[in-house]
Amino acid sequence: MSARVLDGADVARQLRRSVAADVARLGAAPGLATVLVGDDPASQIYVKNKRKQCVEVGMRDLHRHLSAEASQEEVESLIEDLNADHQVDGILVQLPLPKHLDFRAIIDRISPAKDVDGLTAISAGRLAQGRPGLQPCTPAGVMTLLDHAEVPLSGARAVVVGRSDLVGRPMAQMLLARHATVTICHSRTRELAEVTREADVLIAAAGVPQLLGREHIRPGAAVIDVGIHRRETGLCGDVDFDAVKEIAGIITPVPGGVGPMTIASLLRNTLDAAAATR
Ligand code: GUN
Repeated sequence: MSARVLDGADVARQLRRSVAADVARLGAAPGLATVLVGDDPASQIYVKNKRKQCVEVGMRDLHRHLSAEASQEEVESLIEDLNADHQVDGILVQLPLPKHLDFRAIIDRISPAKDVDGLTAISAGRLAQGRPGLQPCTPAGVMTLLDHAEVPLSGARAVVVGRSDLVGRPMAQMLLARHATVTICHSRTRELAEVTREADVLIAAAGVPQLLGREHIRPGAAVIDVGIHRRETGLCGDVDFDAVKEIAGIITPVPGGVGPMTIASLLRNTLDAAAATR
């Protein structure tokens, strides 16, 4: 039997529509400051899409661009200005930053109340302690998808493959907060397939093209693919979709699965940050 394929583009559209309705109710438009340092082509595309969707839901686009040669002091000083600016409800520093910059020190300058990417040490600590706060957008989008598909989480065995600050670690914390039994796998995990085959819910966030095949999947599992890789034949994820869809119960495609959820979650976080100040 073939898995149910989750349409992330459709769920993201619904989420954006609900954010737009809440923005209209709020009255004063929330402001999102995206910060791009340098001219990395992929980052330019990501930021352009964030700015476009921010305007589409009725928010203010307060984008700032610094040159690739900007100093640590210049970037941190910009963040301080945005922290103090009442027009700015959310701040997002696009990663990766140029190599000469200390990205953690820059991210940690962001006021936790405006940390709509959920990446500061304060936000990560709150999440780890199960306290309320702004949460990273991609794993938050995965949770929305799982809830949309009504995947049971309490007591479920969840396996997260990957331990990045952006996805793997916060993903594990969010699943734990929903009472799943969570295992984190990474590049040094032995017998990966034995561990992932335990999963009722499997999150692939390793950043390795088609790492997970049929042998990694428990029949009927919900398989969420966070990876996105450009290949000669087109885009692919961390999961071998064609093989895994024959055995999984639920699966997300690449593209059109988790990807569209990230920006929709960012807009929701920006709305929440704004609503807390009004
Ligand atoms: N670069 C790739 N994904 C992301 C993201 O979700 N947030 C930020 N700030 N940078 C990224």
